[in-house]
Amino acid sequence: MKVYCEKDYDQASRRAANIIAAQVLLKPECVLGLATGSTPVGAYKELIAKCEKGEIDFSKVRSVNLDEYKGLSPENDQSYRYFMNTNLFDHINIDKNNTNVPNGLEPDADKACADYDKIIESMGGVDLQLLGLGHNGHIAFNEPAEEFSKGTNCVNLTQMTIDANARFFESKDEVPKQAYTMGIASIMQAKKILIVACGEDKAEIVKKAFTGPITPQVPASVLQLHPDVTLVGDAAAMKYMV
Ligand code: F6R
Repeated sequence: MKVYCEKDYDQASRRAANIIAAQVLLKPECVLGLATGSTPVGAYKELIAKCEKGEIDFSKVRSVNLDEYKGLSPENDQSYRYFMNTNLFDHINIDKNNTNVPNGLEPDADKACADYDKIIESMGGVDLQLLGLGHNGHIAFNEPAEEFSKGTNCVNLTQMTIDANARFFESKDEVPKQAYTMGIASIMQAKKILIVACGEDKAEIVKKAFTGPITPQVPASVLQLHPDVTLVGDAAAMKYMV
C-alpha cells in the first residue's frame, strides 16, 4: 500500500486529483469508479480546474459510481446522481451517457442490483476506484456485517450512517433508510484503489482499517489484501499512521 500523508484537506485533495488525472492521461478511455460524500469534493474541484485549463480530457472516460439511495430520483438534490452532476460531470467534458449510478428509482432491488452488475461487467472492470471511508469502516454503503458482500446489493443503512448523512437533509426522517451499493468483491476487482480520508474524526477508523485485523466488521480492512491501494489523508486523519 502506498500512503500519502498531506498537510491538510486541500493538499490531500490535490494529491488525489493528481492520481486520478494520471490515470486519465495514461488511459484516456479508462473506467473510473467514483464516490460521493464530503471527502472527494475537493479532488473533484481540482479535476474541474485541470479540465478547464485543458490539462485533462474526459471525453473518452467512462465511470461507475459506488452507490445511490433507494427511492431518490436523479433530480432529487440529495441523490448521488445529482451530486455527481453538480460536483463534477456538469463541469468537465465527460459524456454523461458514459456515466453510471445505480438506479435509485428501480423498486425491485434484485433487478436494480443485477442491472448494475451487468453494467460494471460490460465496461470490462474498473481501472481506478476512488473511495471515501465511513466512520464505522464502511466503503461505499457496505456496512459492518458478518461477511464481505459480493456484487451490488441493497443495504439497510445503519443509524450511524443515517445520522452522519442527516446533515444534508432537512430532517433525519428524510434520510433514506436503504441504498443500492457496489459490493466489496466488485470493489476489490478494481485494478487500482485510491482511498481518501480527512479530518481528525477519521483517525481512529483509518488506524483500525489499515493496521487492524481484516474483518467484515470493518469493511475497509479488506483493502489490506488488495495489491494496488493508495491511501491519501490529511495529517489529522493520518495521525496514527505516521
Ligand atoms: C459515498 C460512499 C460512502 C462515503 C463515506 C465517507 O459514495 O460510498 O462510503 O465515501 O460515507 O463519507 P464522507 O466523505 O462524507 O466522510
